Amino acid sequence: MEKSIDIRMVPEKNSEAHNKFYTEIISGLKDNPKHLLSKYFYDEKGDVFFQNIMKMPEYYLTNCELEIFTEKKEELAKAIKAYDEPFDLIELGAGDATKSSFLLDYLVKQKADFTYMPIDISGNIISILQNNLTNKIPDLQIIGLNGEYLEMLDKANKISSKRKVILFLGSNIGNMEQEEAYQFCKELKQKLNSGDILIIGFDVKKNPHTILNAYNDKTGITAAFNLNLLDRINRELDADFDIEKFQHYQTYDPMSGACRSYLISLSEQTVTIGNQEIYFKENEAIYMEVSQKYSSEEIDKMAVRTGFLPLEKISDSKKWFIDAIWQVD
Ligand code: AVJ
Repeated sequence: MEKSIDIRMVPEKNSEAHNKFYTEIISGLKDNPKHLLSKYFYDEKGDVFFQNIMKMPEYYLTNCELEIFTEKKEELAKAIKAYDEPFDLIELGAGDATKSSFLLDYLVKQKADFTYMPIDISGNIISILQNNLTNKIPDLQIIGLNGEYLEMLDKANKISSKRKVILFLGSNIGNMEQEEAYQFCKELKQKLNSGDILIIGFDVKKNPHTILNAYNDKTGITAAFNLNLLDRINRELDADFDIEKFQHYQTYDPMSGACRSYLISLSEQTVTIGNQEIYFKENEAIYMEVSQKYSSEEIDKMAVRTGFLPLEKISDSKKWFIDAIWQVD
């Protein structure tokens, strides 16, 4: 079986990915209010910042979901293997796959017949992941796909027509606005077949201080993670952001469940990106990222309204995180 497909560490100048990066950055910064897309946080440096975020004691999400994937992997495996037919296990935004590797290992030991297809926007993390997993679980069949979720899912559908099980973990869906998340689930469902399974991780609404602390750490790792995108724009798009002149600002609204990050311009300034000039007022904000939180009821509602059948909800002992198992109706 083919081991990897077209993986690049940094998008080459004038490649499709590079041009899209440029276009989306410029249109976001020319818009009012200004915004950037958090999917671009993940370059080689951003991957390291995010791995450090996952190690912070304040960032409870990783440990909660890790508990599910170590303590409740039998339940997950049972739902996945439902018909005992061969299948493709596709992970959207796999990252370093720390959590899913426990399930992968268990499935391989159970002699399940499947190919693991991790999808990630970071070519850097996909190549690291392939090397690590091949060492850790030698019998695992793996095909890494570097790109955007739905485009790479199309690619996976072209490679294989086996039954699909989709993993969308870590509250990655939280990076979409609620309406976007609904739209995304509907599109995802269109690309799947009746009986296919989706395991989707949600961060649950909880004490607002706990949530805000996870994104507003005193050590400044989350701030650096956000500021790295400005640095990446400098490196890849020939820009001159002065990182010192921007400050990270985080909010959490317990009513809507939206945890949002911004970068605030500390002075009036003009930034050059290629041949474009971007003007900032003093204290003007760039909206960077949403990390949306959901209640248990909101999770079921999303399943039903987007054409899935909610089968099961598996949570950690604190009930801070839910991995929901949905089936295509
Ligand atoms: C990778 C999207 C799950 O929103 O919690 C962590 C990214 N941003 N700290 C999240 C993130 C700031 C993370 N996800």
